[in-house]
Amino acid sequence: MGALPLNRRAFVKQSLACTAGFAWAQEAQTTSLREAGKEKGLLVGTAVSNAQLQRPNFTTLLAEQSSIVVPENEMKWQLIHPAPERFDFTRGDALVSFAGTHDEKVRGHNLCWHEQLPAWFNQLATPQNAADLLRHHIREVAGHYAGRIQSWDVVNEAVHVADGRPDGLRKSPWLRLLGPQYIDIAFRTASETDPRALLTYNDYDLEQDSPEHEAKRQAVLSLLRGMRDRNVPIQALGIQSHLKAGPKVSEWAGFHRFLEAAERLNLQIFVTELDVDDSALPGDIAERDRQVADLYRDYLQNVLRHRSVKAVLTWGLTDRDTWLNHFKPRQDGMPQRPLPFDADLKPTPVFYAMQDAIRTAPAR
Ligand code: XIL
Repeated sequence: MGALPLNRRAFVKQSLACTAGFAWAQEAQTTSLREAGKEKGLLVGTAVSNAQLQRPNFTTLLAEQSSIVVPENEMKWQLIHPAPERFDFTRGDALVSFAGTHDEKVRGHNLCWHEQLPAWFNQLATPQNAADLLRHHIREVAGHYAGRIQSWDVVNEAVHVADGRPDGLRKSPWLRLLGPQYIDIAFRTASETDPRALLTYNDYDLEQDSPEHEAKRQAVLSLLRGMRDRNVPIQALGIQSHLKAGPKVSEWAGFHRFLEAAERLNLQIFVTELDVDDSALPGDIAERDRQVADLYRDYLQNVLRHRSVKAVLTWGLTDRDTWLNHFKPRQDGMPQRPLPFDADLKPTPVFYAMQDAIRTAPAR
């Protein structure tokens, strides 16, 4: 595991000094994202994979830049629960231990989702045993990490308006097995198991100006209101923030209304998986970087106006590791550039946009 740099500020200066295109003019502004966030009472961090944790130059940067981390895949059912009676905490433990060493908080991701379920689940789960399976999983996993998790994504992506149900819920395996009550079961079990973690509902496509995003915002709000009415324990809303750059610029009016409505429900808000899909932008790197960074700045300036937003995590720290190259590949075959550091671990315009937005945000 990489040692912590002796002087965080010196490390950033050093990496910036090597960056072509970013002159010393930038130097005065180069505190780490972690430090910039700290001045505003904001946690800042990233998703991390176990493979990345094996790379010393990466872990140095990670320790320097992040006050909160989340495992990209390592706590999902498929990896942590490989057989009905077997749990494998090795990879999750490695990140939790790294975070402890470097004074970082950890988000847990996630306890209940329609994807990345193990193969045995489909063979074994029935309407009769599904509630017990879900409770057993949550008791084991949230129990193993109890007291060490800042917030758990208890249920991930339960809303999918395009599935056509009046309540907007996704026709996921969990819904088919248990009906809508699976959500309440998951939150109640998580609350009994780790009452210290902030229990979070996490979802995507909630941010931008489009009829699809607006419909999803309404469906998520009605889910959250229903949970409050039923006294289901929930303390936070996770807004994934997988944004897409393109010709249409958002003005965020619907998003602000949505955040205010979530605040009236007394929820903290976390930006949990921020990145920008640049597959609709032209290939030219300088132009692409500019548009991606502009969207980051604009989005963060808007979302951070809300003091209820307590954490911002990107979905990966460096462009080398982005999931977008696999899930939203560019048609021209060029790699995407969605994150604050490039494939050589040098800061990109996104890094500076994040810094600006955090520096100009109100303290919380
Ligand atoms: C993604 C990971 O980044 C990939 O490595 C994996 O193959 C699939 O899942 N929303 C989520 C995350 O909540 O768990 C997803 O992570 C990205 C979308």
